Formats: sequence, structure tokens, C-alpha cells
Amino acid sequence: PAAFGQRLLATTALIGAFALTTAAHAQTTNAPPPAPTVRTDVPADRPWMDTNLSAEARADLILKEMTLAEKLDLTFGYFSTDQQWQQTPIKNYVYPKEGRPFSAGFVPGIPRLGIPNQWQTDAGVGVATQTVPEAARTADLPRGRTALPSGINTAATWNPEVAEAGGAMIGNEAFLSGFNVQLAGGMNLLREARNGRNFEYGGEDPLLSGIITGHEIKGIQSNHVISTMKHYAFNGQETNRNQMDHHIEDKAARESDLLAFQIAYETGNPGSVMCSYNRVNGFYACESDWLLNQVLKTDWGFKGYVMSDWGATHSTTQAANQGLDQQSGWAFDRSPYFAGALREAVNNGYVSEARANDMAKRILWAMFEVGLFDHPVNGDQATTIDYVKNGKISQTDAEEGMVLLKNTAGLLPLSKTAKSILIVGAHADVGVLSGGGSSQVYPKGGSPVPDEFGKGFPGPKTWYPSSPMKGIQARTQATVTYLDGKDIKAAAAAAKKADVVVVFGEQWTGEGFDMPDLNLPNNQDALISAVASKKTVVVLQTGGPVVMPWLSKVGAVVEAWYPGSNGGEAIARVLTGEVNPSGHLPATFPASLDQTPRPVIEGDPKLDADSHPMGNYNIEGAAIGYKWFDKKGLKPLFPFGHGLSYTTFALSDLTAAADGKGLKASFAVKNTGAVSGKEVAQVYVAGNGWEAPKRLGAFKKVEVAPGESQSVSVTVDPRLLATYDSASKTWNIAAGDYKVMLATSAADIAQTVTVHLDAQTLDVKGK
Ligand code: BGC
Repeated sequence: PAAFGQRLLATTALIGAFALTTAAHAQTTNAPPPAPTVRTDVPADRPWMDTNLSAEARADLILKEMTLAEKLDLTFGYFSTDQQWQQTPIKNYVYPKEGRPFSAGFVPGIPRLGIPNQWQTDAGVGVATQTVPEAARTADLPRGRTALPSGINTAATWNPEVAEAGGAMIGNEAFLSGFNVQLAGGMNLLREARNGRNFEYGGEDPLLSGIITGHEIKGIQSNHVISTMKHYAFNGQETNRNQMDHHIEDKAARESDLLAFQIAYETGNPGSVMCSYNRVNGFYACESDWLLNQVLKTDWGFKGYVMSDWGATHSTTQAANQGLDQQSGWAFDRSPYFAGALREAVNNGYVSEARANDMAKRILWAMFEVGLFDHPVNGDQATTIDYVKNGKISQTDAEEGMVLLKNTAGLLPLSKTAKSILIVGAHADVGVLSGGGSSQVYPKGGSPVPDEFGKGFPGPKTWYPSSPMKGIQARTQATVTYLDGKDIKAAAAAAKKADVVVVFGEQWTGEGFDMPDLNLPNNQDALISAVASKKTVVVLQTGGPVVMPWLSKVGAVVEAWYPGSNGGEAIARVLTGEVNPSGHLPATFPASLDQTPRPVIEGDPKLDADSHPMGNYNIEGAAIGYKWFDKKGLKPLFPFGHGLSYTTFALSDLTAAADGKGLKASFAVKNTGAVSGKEVAQVYVAGNGWEAPKRLGAFKKVEVAPGESQSVSVTVDPRLLATYDSASKTWNIAAGDYKVMLATSAADIAQTVTVHLDAQTLDVKGK
């Protein structure tokens, strides 16, 4: 490949010159690093292979052996998929031959020092494959792998253990597929209900999203695969994502999206952070001194590296000095900024040698910390993946994240005495939907539905061959029939004759575009209205919130999101009562777009690529989702935190007291119904001068047998009791009385107590 070859030649030529520079530097620096406790099995010439040493010490040791050119080689990544469409500066890009075919990226290692290649794969629901043109399809491509349900589904589980198990599963598949970097950990807060990538993220609340995504990251990295956390930050919409300049004040930012990232970082310790496409307060996220140098690296103490999103690097000196450590996915950017030009910038003093060392050290630190040196990937071992076991892990996630939104007169679980069940729409006879774009995991054996999108990226519109209808058939004596719903009249007539109707609605969302509105596309609302009755169950597969004009006419509604590889089975088990639903909404479902901060999406898609329209996130500031609805006194269609069960729970005995720097709340959850179930107990707190009347302070999912009661204690992070002060970089809890509310959704408060807190000042980490 032309660019790759040229770059290697340039590197070789420079090694001599830089070796001299490095040697001279070594003579002038006085203090040698502290002598490590060397293990006997560590090769004498590779002291950094001593696993007793910290990642930091190991990175320092190997850095000493590296030329500047080698260090900078680590900062430049390639797209690992051929591209015919790439326009500037090279056409017909061919990926480096050591890369894994049709994957997201590749960064060459340094064999003489044993520095492994970085093989990068998307993304948060499993091992993805970039769009593979028909001509390039083989038995092995696109890779068929296990897909977790969408990220928003995992957030809807409110279960960190499920999130971590899912992360561990996809990290294992990544490792066995020959990848050691996974571009996962998507978690932009849901500021825009139409955002085409809401399905990849963790909903609207900083605590829930931070905890769930943090655990996913932790699970992935338990396989010695680096995970990112992305897209840092304020990449809240896809419309004009490369151009938008989202404005938000520091205080509001730290109390919302940045708090979510901070919590995920503390929980999951990601090796890398991916900076986003958009600008923030006038600067590209990938060259924002505030986001990268100040908040992430200085205030939070992040030791890993920042990689750019694919095509999100826009300069050499500016980006390197403002905190970007690795340019990703060449040839997406206009120029190979971190290849030759970065060496030139260092050579001429525009980027300091100390900063060049720092960039390489951060990448090496993450590689040591996560175990890439000690547990190298061993090529493609995908034949050893246990797809049956992994499918069950995905299924558990789906079953715990599915939200029973409405259930009148016990319509669900499906009656055992029903003689006929009519299933309508959304290809429920053959499969379940997935979200589109770079995160696309392909099903083993292909999609059972031909691509209905058909226009390239973010397609193909892909379905997993797990049939809800077959799952239902296997669990009922009733006659089950299916209609695709294209003929609305025929569906309405058949619905009248059936004992129960299960109508499926779908909303395909994907990377690179936002939804025009919150309605189900392709006239599906009309179809659902036509078959609606008290015996109609609606099962939705959507990327995020939707409106339901037919809601009052139907008996039950289940939000199944994109339920992953075993989604059909999961849906059938929930509908038939084999599994008691326990998902709760991680995002408010608005009654209409007029209730949201931006009824019209900002940014005109027809803008020139060099224009940067302002997006005003100061409208809602930190008051996202339920906080906005509370503040404005609006009644949503379904509130944040809402989710029903086939049993009933009573929450009681709430007590709360100051505890260390935060607050502790204790309460009881009783199962007052007839079947075992899981409740998501939510603790909200209310203070004065906050962005909104209340915040989610803590939550706990508890499983309770019928008639039993469980005592639960949770602690509230002091940052959720405080406001952030930008000038002093402190979190401040004001002295006073705080309301502590025990709830089953943001709108269903079971009990409230008041607790007095003394004034406190905490540092920028909330300590
Ligand atoms: C997406 C990232 C993804 C990258 C590599 C970009 O278009 O925004 O989320 O990791 O591509 O495929």
C-alpha cells in the first residue's frame, strides 16, 4: 500500500537521526529509574516483561529502549478495511496486510522490542465487521459472532453484573478473533431522543450510564483486550456530527456527561478514551485542551491514551499538544497528521520531546495495564468460541433489559388457554433487529431478511436469526400464525378472529443519521392501530424512545430494544412468563418532541463540511431527561426508571443518614405478588440550587421470592449530593436538609425521608 510503504521508508531513514538525539538526551538526564525487582524468568534484555512491576514502571523501562521514531509509530493507526470511496488525500486505500480483514483498525507493533500490534475491532455489542462488499464475502467474512443486545438494553437491566458478564463475553470473542483493542464503551448521554446511535449508549443518567458502561469495560478488559470509552464528549447527535460545535458550560458539563464518563472511568479503568467527531465550545473534541489535558488527564488522573474517532483528527501540533495521543483509522482524515508531520513537529520543537514520550508512554501503559504483552492474542482462534454459552449470556442481558411498559388485566404473560395467537410484523417469524453502523455484529449464517436499506453504510439492515414466533410456538398449545402486516386490512381482519394478537413494531436506527421523528417508520403506527384491542400485545424493537399513538387502545406493551443474538428466544420467554420482566427505562419516553429541549434538531445537514453550526447544550445544561421533565413540570409518556413485572413489590422502611462523605440509605423490598421477580429500587435525592428538582443517587436490582422481603442498603456518591464549582475545581455539598426518595421510577415515589447534611468540600475527583 502506497501510504503505508512510504511511511515505513520515512521511518527507517529517521531512525538513525533520532537514535543520536535519544542518546544525547539520555546523557543529560541525571536520575536513572529506580532499580526494578527483577524476576529470574524475565529475559535480561527485556526487563519490562517483569510482571511484578507496575504498568507505569514497565512502560518507563521499554521507553528507554525506543527511538523517537518508534515511539511515534505507536501514535498512528490505520483503517483495516479497503476503501474505494475515500476521497482525500488518497483514493483506493488498501489496508496494511497485517491488519485483520474488514476490521476497524491496525497499529503496527515494534517486533524488536516485543511490542505487539494493536488490532482494533468495534464495538460495544460484540465483534463487528465493517460493511463487506458482496465481491469480498467469503466463508469467514463478514465474521459471524455473538451479539449482545443494544447498549441501551444493557442499561435497562440496571444490573452491573449482567453488564460485566456481557463485556467479558464479547471481550473473549474479540480476543479469540485476534483483536486486542475493542472500540466499546459507548456512553454519550441521551440528550436527543432521535439520535441514531442511542442504541449504542447507556441512556440519560450519569450514574446509571457510568456504572453500567464501566462494568462492560471491566468485563472486556478481563480478557486482556483494551476497551475504549467513547465518544468523548458531547457527541449527542449524528446530524452533522463532524461539524457540530456543541456549547456547554464547564459546571453543567461536569455534572452531566463528564460525570458519566468519570464514573465509568473509575469503575472500568479503560485503557483508552476515544475522542469524538464534534467540536465542543469551539474546539474539536480531539484537540480540546479542556476535555483532554485538563478534565481527563489532569483532573481525573487518566493514565491511558486518547485515540481519535475515525476521521476526527484535524491537525498535528494542535492535536498533539491539546491531548490527542493516537490518530486512528488512516485514511479517514484529510492528512496523516501523526505520521511524518508529527516527527517534523517534534524535530522542530512545536511538540516537545517530553510530550512525544508521554504519548507513547500512555499507549504502552494501557498495553501493560490490560495485559497485552503478557497475554498476546494468538491469531484467529474463532473456531474455539463457545457460541452456545455466549448466546445464553446475551440472552440473559436481553431478558433482564426488556421493559414491560404496560400490562392491563394480566394480558401478559400470554394465557395458557388461548387457542389462537396471531403474530404480526417486523419479521417476527424469522428474527430480531439490530442497530446499524460500525458497531454492526453480523449473525452467524447471515441475516434471515434481505437488506431493506440497501444503500451501503450504515447498512445492511441486519436481523439475527432468532425467531420470536418459533420461541412462542415452542411454549404454547395455541395455533400460532404470522402475517407480515403489509396488508393492514387483512391484518385487522385476522386480529379480530385471534384470541391474542402480538404485533411487533420496529425502528431501525444506525450510525450517521438521526430519526426524523419519534414515530415508528413505514406506517407501522397505522398497522398497530388497526390490530389494536385489549387483547393486543405490542412488542417494540427500537433504538431508543418512541411515541405510541395507539397506547390507550392496546392491552400490553413490551420494549425489547435490539435484543441481540438470542433475542427471539428472550422475547418468547418474557411473553410466556418463563422469565419475569425486570427491565426499567434508562431514558424518559417523551409524549412528543415538543417536550424535549430541541424540538428541531440543530445543524443543517446541507451545510458545507467546513461550517461549524453551534449546538446549544446550555439549553438543558445538566438537566437531561427526567431532570428536564421535572424542572419543566412535564408529564412524559413513560418516565425514566419505569418498568413493570408479573409480580408486585412494596418498598418501605426507608432510612437515610450521612455516611462518610456521602449518604447511606436503607430500605426493604417486599414481593407482594405470586411469582418470583426482580425489582429495581431507585433512590433519588433532592437538594437546593441543583440543575433540576432531583437526581438519581443510587439503585439496586434485587431478586425477591413471593411473600419474602429483603433489606437493602445503598450509598450515594457525594458528587450526586454536590454542585461543581468551576473556579476552584471542587464539589461542594451545601449544609442543609435533603430529601431522599425511594422510588420505582422518577415519577413513582414510594417513600421520602429528610436527612441533614453538613457542608463539605470535595476535590475534583469527589474525594
Ligand atoms: C465510529 C466509532 C467507531 C469507528 C471505527 C466511527 O465511525 O464513530 O464509534 O469505533 O468508526 O469503526
